[in-house]
Amino acid sequence: MRSISSRTRDLTNRRSRPLRTAALVLAVGALAGLVLLLSSRSERSVATEWGARLYREQSCANCHGADGRGDGSRANTLDPPPRDFRDPLAFVQGTTARDVAATLETGVTVRPSQMPSFAHLSESERLVLGEFIVSLRQKHLEQQTRPRSH
Ligand code: HEC
Repeated sequence: MRSISSRTRDLTNRRSRPLRTAALVLAVGALAGLVLLLSSRSERSVATEWGARLYREQSCANCHGADGRGDGSRANTLDPPPRDFRDPLAFVQGTTARDVAATLETGVTVRPSQMPSFAHLSESERLVLGEFIVSLRQKHLEQQTRPRSH
């Protein structure tokens, strides 16, 4: 005759098998989700870094400043002044990466301005510049909302 303890073990094993399977499925699912999240994040940061390099190479900083605060060396010769990228309300042609890419293709056209067109860049180059501009705003927002330590 089998001992009570071995029977109990059988019972617990039997009962926990579906549980274990469910836990495994969940774990694999969570892992897959994490991998996806990380890869889309790192794709974004690769785009942002490429955009940051183009920002330097294309002399955007002369007008907009190295950190995109609208304080480049030429800024006070321009009217309207170059955009401070931290302020989404100041944008006149849209604030998303795609909007910025479209602005770079044509320049600012909704009013007379010295924001030039960067039509010589490729579509992808304009888009990663857009990602970079959006990242400046997000970085600023994160700094604003981070709780202060006392
Ligand atoms: C010669 C100076 C100058 C250079 C160089 C320049 N900009 Fe601008 N930019 C401006 C000015 C001025 C404005 C504001 C125009 C306005 O408010 O009508 C502006 C506006 C913008 C805007 C906001 C458009 C909107 O919807 O309001 C974006 C985005 C932008 N620039 C991105 C860039 C990027 C990226 C580069 C480099 C690839 C660049 N700019 C280079 C002068 C410049």
